[in-house]
Amino acid sequence: MCGIVGYVGSQNALSVVLDGLRRLEYRGYDSAGVALLDGAGGLLTQRKAGPLGNLEKELGDAPHEGNTGIGHTRWATHGAPTDRNAHPHTDCHHRVAVIHNGIIENFVPLRAELEARGHELTSETDTEVVAHLLEELTRDGAALPDAMRTVCQRLDGAFTLLAVHADAPGVVVGARRNSPLVVGLGEGETFLASDVAAFIAHTRDAVELGQDQVVTVTRDGYTLTDFAGTEVAGRQFRIDWDLAAAEKGGHPYFMLKEIEEQPAAVEDTLRGHLAGGRIVLDEERVDEQVLRDVDKVFVVACGTAYHSGLIAKYAIEHWTRVPVEVEMASEFRYRDPVLDRATLVVAISQSGETADTLQAVRHAREQKATVLAICNTNGAQIPRESDAVLYTRCGPEIGVAATKTFMAQITASYLIGLGLAQARGTKYEDEVAAEFDKLARMPELIGQVLTTVEPVRELAREIAGSKAVLFLGRHLGYPVALEGALKLKELAYMHAEGFPAGELKHGPIALIEDGLPVVVVMPSPHGRPVLHGKVLSNIQEIRARGARTIVIAEEGDADVRPYANHLIEVPRTPTLLSPLVTTVPLQVLAAEIAQARGYDVDKPRNLAKSVTVE
Ligand code: F6R
Repeated sequence: MCGIVGYVGSQNALSVVLDGLRRLEYRGYDSAGVALLDGAGGLLTQRKAGPLGNLEKELGDAPHEGNTGIGHTRWATHGAPTDRNAHPHTDCHHRVAVIHNGIIENFVPLRAELEARGHELTSETDTEVVAHLLEELTRDGAALPDAMRTVCQRLDGAFTLLAVHADAPGVVVGARRNSPLVVGLGEGETFLASDVAAFIAHTRDAVELGQDQVVTVTRDGYTLTDFAGTEVAGRQFRIDWDLAAAEKGGHPYFMLKEIEEQPAAVEDTLRGHLAGGRIVLDEERVDEQVLRDVDKVFVVACGTAYHSGLIAKYAIEHWTRVPVEVEMASEFRYRDPVLDRATLVVAISQSGETADTLQAVRHAREQKATVLAICNTNGAQIPRESDAVLYTRCGPEIGVAATKTFMAQITASYLIGLGLAQARGTKYEDEVAAEFDKLARMPELIGQVLTTVEPVRELAREIAGSKAVLFLGRHLGYPVALEGALKLKELAYMHAEGFPAGELKHGPIALIEDGLPVVVVMPSPHGRPVLHGKVLSNIQEIRARGARTIVIAEEGDADVRPYANHLIEVPRTPTLLSPLVTTVPLQVLAAEIAQARGYDVDKPRNLAKSVTVE
């Protein structure tokens, strides 16, 4: 949600900042802006509604000198995505410029207070108050970092803030609470960004900020304090992926590249987690005894990550016989769930920033549950606040719609299921190793699916004009159906719903009409044969009412052939692991339909990659 970049060094700040914003555009893309210090006491700001390209046009070809700058891509919360509401926001005298990610919850009284003191606020945003508060403090003699610390103490809510002041050339000040900010350390240049992708082209050395900290960067480095001004140490780390991972590599969209990367994402997530015949959960800071004592598991997550949680439930319950509840993180804490020391909460979040999931984690920990995070972002807030973390190793996912991280989340959930089964003794060591071996063969099977998706692309073009698509599944096919429908909604803006196939007759069957495409995720005839027969009957029910059936079935499933208008075959896969193959054609279908309808696959409207507001 909102991308933030800051730079101080010897390069042209505008080009570094714009390049960083291009890499962060996935975080928000309804407007963009920059602020530059020219080094001679001047502050230039430019901002524009719409994608980054609009801002670049506005800036034109004129050279903008200066080696200090900040930039922002916005996902609107307060105020429509207009030029006036785009960041940066400045003070009354245009000396301070501020960009912000998050929500300042007490901006209304602060704004009233500032207006009463004669300030003129020109936007509808919550952010602008910060510029005016900084104006007052710096006018009274405070240095920008001190002013920032004082202002932060007055703010409620979640924020990453960056500020520059015309009187402080060569300095960018940042602050964070509940929203990400990292420092990039170069040779004679320093970067700030909401995500390392913004500066990976320049340096792989980074520093993670803690909660409630203020950072001051110059070209020589950084200083870090808490909001009270006490110096603190940041955690320095080396980014373990390179620029190529953040580039399209010849693909028209990041999403298509990321779909292709799924075998590697699963393989990398599994790597090293079986040693000496035992499952090793490396960032596991939870005592095995705690896992032995667990009597209930909650999975909390949002969107696609929630779907991976639904899949986790089948595996964890089957392997451990411990009951698993899966809950949308945004609902979790508000219904007062029953949690105690014997509850394990698995929080799944690729970004590790999702505010709903973070709040669920906090609630669970307050209630003394043990929290284990599954996350793709090193050092993000959710893993930091959890008792333990299992990292998925996907590299950056830039397409807004989650694909490879979904596959890796499912994989990590299986590892947790096996780890729990091992700790509790519900599976023998050789059984755990045998399940791991099956998992280790999945990258190859996913790769096979990827070589056979060409007909899916053709089908996508055929059905791109439909007004709706339904998705049906049973057992593990049900969460896959939900995921297929979500992908289509977010990318192609079509009405799409996922249902349990058996539930159809209880209402949704009324939606079936002549020619309506219905995607059915067929269970394997070998896993639970009884389900196979039942879904075959469900297909007949919808065909009888005119549906155009698109069936995803296991190779060699001859029984389903006569009832499929379009048959998409996937390799035979162990039942519990089947979502890793059946999801792939649905991702491709959604991306191709979106392309056929002329939409930007990587940046669907109204969405942002990381959702840092509740
Ligand atoms: C869908 C999608 C979202 C995210 C959800 C949770 O394609 O990307 O539904 O899955 O916003 O995000 P994380 O995993 O970052 O918590």
